[in-house]
Amino acid sequence: MTLRLGIVLPTYNERGNLAGMVKRLDAALAGIGWEAIFVDDNSPDGTADEARAIAREDSRVRVIQRIGRRGLSSAAIEGMCATSAPVVAVMDADHQHDPALLPGMLAAIESGDYDLAYASRFAEGASTEQWGRPDRVKASGIANALARRVTGVELSDPMSGYFMLPTATLRADAHRLSGVGFKILLDILATVKAPLRVKEVPLDFAARAEGESKLDRTVVFEFLVGLYDKWLGRFIPTRFALFGTVGAAGALVHFGVLAMVLHLFGARFALSHYPKEAAFIVGQTVAALVAMTFNFALNNELTYSDKRLRGLFPVLRGWAQFALTCSLGIVTQIGVATALVRVGVHAYPAAAAGIVLASVWNFALSSKFVWGKY
Ligand code: GDD
Ligand code: MN
Repeated sequence: MTLRLGIVLPTYNERGNLAGMVKRLDAALAGIGWEAIFVDDNSPDGTADEARAIAREDSRVRVIQRIGRRGLSSAAIEGMCATSAPVVAVMDADHQHDPALLPGMLAAIESGDYDLAYASRFAEGASTEQWGRPDRVKASGIANALARRVTGVELSDPMSGYFMLPTATLRADAHRLSGVGFKILLDILATVKAPLRVKEVPLDFAARAEGESKLDRTVVFEFLVGLYDKWLGRFIPTRFALFGTVGAAGALVHFGVLAMVLHLFGARFALSHYPKEAAFIVGQTVAALVAMTFNFALNNELTYSDKRLRGLFPVLRGWAQFALTCSLGIVTQIGVATALVRVGVHAYPAAAAGIVLASVWNFALSSKFVWGKY
């Protein structure tokens, strides 16, 4: 039978769902030449082994096992590029997406009237009742609204993970997709230049069969960062914006700690000869150390989450390098501000210029020196 449809199923710890999924594909796609590609990120539960066991008995089933990688989107992209079928679909492997919709979607694509077909949880006739997660329904609503705003995509469910398109369309733009997080359909819609004629099918989004969801806080954070990147990333690079935001939060921490120290020890230092100065110097030192550590931790967690330093020694070394970078930044800041004041610039704009320059300095140096491969 001629191969007409490739179905990509990204998996992470879905061992118990595979056999049933292949049976349902077989039933839904009777008379259609298809292949299924499981793209597994080396799941600890042995999903890839299970997929290979199934594949030995059914050569329409294939497995890509990725080592040292994670991510639904990037797995979907690699799977889509791996099929020779002229049309390719992506769907979840946990039985939340009904395979019975595939023939209708395929007919839409093969008719030539549509460039993309997708199953929407929020189209008319769709339902999220069976899902049993009103919290996620609400969150998906918000994510969809944000996505529509920022990308101009006008679908009822651009966050859907169940869609189909001609493989050539995907291949032409695969190198421009971000591959980050869960937003693969949104990515395709926002990346492909030609306006796509989209066929929407209502989906009765089911409850997950076995196992649990992998959509965690990191995925949500990456989604928001991705939206920012699309929205303002051209003007202020995303990583610098994150670094700057963390820095601003660090400044607040600095003032908070300073106020606390002045409040706690101010009275005691008042007995000495230089009352205010002593409390101030202690306060500034403690505040700077706390704020810098806070900034280092937050940058390691968020700004450089993709290059996060782990383990006691790398973290301690990173902290020391960050501290060194920041102290040079302070010298820069004071130097620049002083020079500007000398040539007649007002104190506040001079200080602001110093801060901006020091941030750029800190960012440039730490991205290479602390989190880069130096
Ligand atoms: N290879 C690989 N790597 N697969 C993954 C990864 C990963 O890091 N993370 C998740 N998957 C697979 C899961 O094993 C599952 O087959 C599918 O991707 C969907 O993941 P779920 O963890 O079941 O996601 P969900 O049900 O919470 O999220 C649903 O809604 C999202 C939008 O709100 C899905 O339909 C998503 O596709 C959709 O984007
Ligand atoms: Mn799921």
